[in-house]
Amino acid sequence: MFTAIKYDGSVLQLLDQRRLPEAEIWLKCHDVESVAVAIENMVVRGAPAIADAAAFALAMSASERARLPGTLADDLGVFEAEVERLSMTRPTAVNLFKVLEEFRRTLRVLAPSTLRVQVARLLTELAQRIFDEDLATCYAIGKHGLDLAREAPGVTLRILTHCNTGSLATAGYGTALGVIRSLHACGRLAMVYVDETRPYLQGARLTAYELQAEGIPYQVICDSAAAYLMQCRSVDMVIVGADRIAANGDTANKIGTYGLAVQAHYHGLPFVVAAPLSSFDVAISSGAEIRIEERGADELRLSGGKQVTPLDAPVFNPAFDVTPAALISAIVTERGIVRPPTTEKIAAIFG
Ligand code: MRU
Repeated sequence: MFTAIKYDGSVLQLLDQRRLPEAEIWLKCHDVESVAVAIENMVVRGAPAIADAAAFALAMSASERARLPGTLADDLGVFEAEVERLSMTRPTAVNLFKVLEEFRRTLRVLAPSTLRVQVARLLTELAQRIFDEDLATCYAIGKHGLDLAREAPGVTLRILTHCNTGSLATAGYGTALGVIRSLHACGRLAMVYVDETRPYLQGARLTAYELQAEGIPYQVICDSAAAYLMQCRSVDMVIVGADRIAANGDTANKIGTYGLAVQAHYHGLPFVVAAPLSSFDVAISSGAEIRIEERGADELRLSGGKQVTPLDAPVFNPAFDVTPAALISAIVTERGIVRPPTTEKIAAIFG
């Protein structure tokens, strides 16, 4: 299992996911700005991992300031500007915004006279706790995901997944890929079909890299092969992650997820989301309120660094789409499975 984020108390290292699988290169970040740029450029990506990186960035910055004498009062303006900068990086995944709010809350209760060293210690503990909880949550999601197999006794499942939801997208183990890992560990997995996930190829490059490293059986398919695979009855279930889940269960995830859900519905296949409670945004009533990030044209105009469209071809490149709750069979969380995902059942799991 990989780790994509390392923090030693002064430098944040991010495994450059743009270079995988060809090269494992670690990018050293020394300040919030370099982490913000790394998030924007997808050095680090995946909803929980983005939030973890932002948390360590704020802790790192506080630790750097603590080298000089001073108090929280000296740094409140800088801190607010850093939170603002990080909040401008990627708009869709809610995990980032929850973590930023948690840092704000932590500082709000401190006296302005709190020494910089104490602030740095508190923020470092907070960042580490967020990271550790992310990891524990992924293991719990994986464990609950085994119930999906218990409902189909004796069957080894063939699962179709989209994007990368594994160790690289989280503190480790993963969400949808965590469920897949657990099924494999229990001998209940026959095959993982990995959507290549155009245009950024998180499936072909990252999910395949993780599965290959662990000897989990998989095949990469081009995104447009998914419906055919379902028609041939070669898939038992679709499992994907989430970037933001509204109070009614509508789920934003990597572009192409909605199309898969429509196809799964047509073919009578379970369509499952695996996500931590930190990916729920119960402040919004439906997916209509989710802001969908649009990314640069070159992600589509170029492939492997080569121009594949006419120069300057007009491009529409949404990074995510929203799957209506009605198309989702179940959401696997660290507290159990929400099935079907309705406003009432989602409220209940937050208990
Ligand atoms: O643009 P990305 O690569 O950050 O998008 C990632 C996804 O859509 C994942 O499916 C989602 O963040 C869940 S990761 C556990």
